[in-house]
Amino acid sequence: MKVLTLDDFDLKGKTVFLRVDMNCPIDPDSMEISGTKRIEEAIETLQSLKEAKVVVASHQGRVGNDDYTGMDKHAKVLEKLMGKKIKYVEDTIGEAAQNAIRNLHDGEILLLDNLRLCAEENYEFTPENAAKTIMVTRLSKLFDLCVLDSFPSAHRSHPSIVGFPQVLPACAGRIVEREVRNLDEIMTVAKAPHVIVLGGSKVPDRLEAIKLLIQNGRADHVLLTGVIANVFMRAQARIKSPLGIKREDEVVSKAHALIGEYPDVFATPVDIAIDKDGARVEMDVREIAKTDKIYDLGPKTVEYYSKLIAGAGTVFISGPAGFFEKENFSYGTKALLDSVANSMATTIVSGGHLTSVLKKLGLAEKIDHISTAGGALVLYLTGEKLPMIKALEDAAMKYRSK
Ligand code: 3PG
Ligand code: MG
Repeated sequence: MKVLTLDDFDLKGKTVFLRVDMNCPIDPDSMEISGTKRIEEAIETLQSLKEAKVVVASHQGRVGNDDYTGMDKHAKVLEKLMGKKIKYVEDTIGEAAQNAIRNLHDGEILLLDNLRLCAEENYEFTPENAAKTIMVTRLSKLFDLCVLDSFPSAHRSHPSIVGFPQVLPACAGRIVEREVRNLDEIMTVAKAPHVIVLGGSKVPDRLEAIKLLIQNGRADHVLLTGVIANVFMRAQARIKSPLGIKREDEVVSKAHALIGEYPDVFATPVDIAIDKDGARVEMDVREIAKTDKIYDLGPKTVEYYSKLIAGAGTVFISGPAGFFEKENFSYGTKALLDSVANSMATTIVSGGHLTSVLKKLGLAEKIDHISTAGGALVLYLTGEKLPMIKALEDAAMKYRSK
């Protein structure tokens, strides 16, 4: 491995900055955490750090979005899961946070508040400039080691990810260690044709990545699902009325340009399912009316996509194909996962939603690599170096030469 791991350090008594990704789904009505998977995943690394003083830091949501909230709830969940006291401070880089860090004893865990409360964490920086942020200059003095374990945010060059490794010894946590090792192995055997099954809600991010995937020879076929499929169908003028999503004009025109540039790459749905007073109604894409809510793929689309999946050398699937939380509309997501699991290709499944459906279906064993990351993994597959991995590799070179 080109990065250091927890096994390379004597951790006893050290004060450690641990960047995790506890970005959880939040119920918009109650503002409570509706899925705790990302918190559960943090535990393995915390156990490796049980003789250290550990300061856990994460973001939650994006400023201005419905899932943007404090980390008090995360502290309670973590406390329950670990069966031990988790200290929590409603602060990120101020006096209160600094004092709480200084007062830690060996074996104690402190969770800081949402890192995006600190303005700097909402911007991308070069590593050199990230090291000059107030977050990194103030906090780094208090730590002996930085452990990066937030693989789902490995594509963000935020101060907590690329800044600390500039000024502190840094290594991968258990999740990042496993992801990097498995993915590097898989990518050396990955064969064409590369089939990407792409859904998910962060459409602008996905559009950027699609272009890179195609340009870098990692996407021979892109099979679109979910909101991003609607965007492409709108760009093809197959959906006639506006979708009512954020930055719609911009994303539709980008999709339009991509189809023009790579006409043979994209597959879009031929039939879908809408919600009619709670019932599932399947129809041809041409029949969609202005007020219809598209909640799933139809069976013809699943058959069409499944044929392309069966002919693949490598399949990557990210993001649910529809409103899978509702039993009525989980068909597309389940059927595509089934096709992926039963294909002869090298298979990678990405994102927490798909992972939980896969486990429920009992198909997890048939997949070569399962990752909780979404956007970060898409970017990894383009062949671009992720900022977090670069930061860890640079830190390893520096530390090893000492
Ligand atoms: C994710 O859930 O994809 C990561 O936590 C990154 O979140 P972001 O896209 O808001 O940076
Ligand atoms: Mg993401």
